[in-house]
Amino acid sequence: MIHFDSVTFSYGERRVLTDITLDLNEHRIGVVGGNGSGKSTFARLINGLLAPISGAVIVDGLNTVHDLKKVRTKVGFVFQDPDLQIVMPTVAEDLAFSLRPLRLPKSEVESQVSTWLDAYGLADHRDHPAHLLSGGQKQLLAIAAILIMKPQIVVFDEPTTLLDLRNKRRIMNVVDSLEQQAIVVTHDLEFLNGFDRVLVLDQGRVVADDSPAPALDAYKRLSREERSSLRDRGD
Ligand SMILES: Nc1ncnc2c1ncn2[C@@H]1O[C@H](COP(=O)(O)OP(=O)(O)OP(=O)(O)O)[C@@H](O)[C@H]1O
Ligand SMILES: [Mg+2]
Repeated sequence: MIHFDSVTFSYGERRVLTDITLDLNEHRIGVVGGNGSGKSTFARLINGLLAPISGAVIVDGLNTVHDLKKVRTKVGFVFQDPDLQIVMPTVAEDLAFSLRPLRLPKSEVESQVSTWLDAYGLADHRDHPAHLLSGGQKQLLAIAAILIMKPQIVVFDEPTTLLDLRNKRRIMNVVDSLEQQAIVVTHDLEFLNGFDRVLVLDQGRVVADDSPAPALDAYKRLSREERSSLRDRGD
């Protein structure tokens, strides 16, 4: 269970999230909102990549600032840009790197890596340089490299932006079939079909918090209002 308690966040002088209090218990939670509304900041607070300026984020009783190390093992974070996440030269080495903290025997690492490469359609690329994969393949690798660690909660920041239709479906299926709780930041509204809950962020506040259909209606209304006020101002 994730608890935001009066969380405020600023980058320097710039206030990005204002007084957010909520509990996230549902299995599938989506986060939508315009560019710059604070979604990635919100997501990064969940695994302690960012620390609140005031208030606290508590994950299963652990404070993301005081218990950072434990929070990091509990919450996996998939970055929007897979290049930020790929650390090893080859595809197989990158996956194996995720397993290092577990100190498994070499044969066990190899067998797990093979299983995951097969499942993500990357088996033919096992010894290829990871940075030469296509954007979508990199994204699949980045996701596999987080999930192979079996985090209890997974946060995805726009996991489908680089993907073609086939790979987008593949990722949606991966998320659908996860046993873990997943929090997905996305501009891809189709992704949110069947989710339990969707948060809509606007200028650092949660302006709607509902099941997908009404939340997405609120989001679309908001975008329409923004467009018409821009037109009225003659921008
Ligand atoms: N490292 C940073 N330093 C200063 N300002 C930042 C930094 N990162 C983000 N911001 C600003 O904070 C605000 C919220 O950014 P955030 O990345 O959370 O938005 P977002 O909703 O994820 O947007 P997008 O849909 O474009 O990914 C933006 O105005 C952005 O310019
Ligand atoms: Mg973002």
